[in-house]
Amino acid sequence: MLITYENREKLNTFFLKTKLSTNNNGDNKNKEAKINQIIAYLEIIHSLLRKYSLKRNLTLIDCGAGNCYLSFLTYYFYQTIDQRKVTIYCIDNNQRLMNNNRVLANQLGFQNMFFQSCDILDFSIARQPQIVYSLHACDQATDKTLYLGVKHNAANILSVSCCQHSMKKQLKKHPCSGITKYNVFKDKFTYMIGDSLRALLMESAGYQANIIEFVSSRYTDKNVMLRATKSNPNKILKAKEEYQQLSQLFNIRPILEGYLSKN
Ligand SMILES: C[S@@+](CC[C@H](N)C(=O)[O-])C[C@H]1O[C@@H](n2cnc3c(N)ncnc32)[C@H](O)[C@@H]1O
Repeated sequence: MLITYENREKLNTFFLKTKLSTNNNGDNKNKEAKINQIIAYLEIIHSLLRKYSLKRNLTLIDCGAGNCYLSFLTYYFYQTIDQRKVTIYCIDNNQRLMNNNRVLANQLGFQNMFFQSCDILDFSIARQPQIVYSLHACDQATDKTLYLGVKHNAANILSVSCCQHSMKKQLKKHPCSGITKYNVFKDKFTYMIGDSLRALLMESAGYQANIIEFVSSRYTDKNVMLRATKSNPNKILKAKEEYQQLSQLFNIRPILEGYLSKN
């Protein structure tokens, strides 16, 4: 396990500084759930980064970063525990949040964290990132994350989707209406089909894609991660066929399809 008991003690102090935990009981339950999510996410980030030389400065991009809890933890972990050089770019279209995060990063001495207030699609850097990731980026922001990763030729792309409104709206005429007439199943169905379509698009773009539960559903019901790693492109044709079949069966086309077709 990445976070040992002793490390967890250190982290508690760190979480107080990032306001992810407080000394009073208030909304600590939600914050505890978030802490468990970001620790589990960091475990996956680390499983991808530990193969790189410690001498290398690694580049990460967090899309729809919000309060940047995940990226603050990641930066802290590499700076003080694993002692690896990382540069993290955090992107969010909420300018106020990005300004607050910048102030906090300065206070913490996190010099290689950068905060950009813009749409994910408008962000660009001139080097290849090791990981582009998002955690609960809203609806099409997940598609934008995946596209940004492909556009930058990222070695790895991770996304955990949040609401899937735009795909739920498309799910109208299909052979499983006896299931999706029940709203709770319609949501689950949209998640399954939406993320499968995105995974197939990633495979069609030359990535090896996988869908996993990155943390227990005790901490969030949105616990499904799409993990894509640049790989050899011999499965592209099959993925394209599977994508077309699934997309036609349910009449759903994630906006990612359009972004990738421009690439
Ligand atoms: C649900 S919050 C998640 C924040 C954070 N990743 C977390 O897990 O705590 C989603 C964030 O995505 C940002 N966002 C949504 N669409 C975006 C877009 N197209 N470009 C940049 N940021 C976006 C929102 O401003 C919001 O801060």
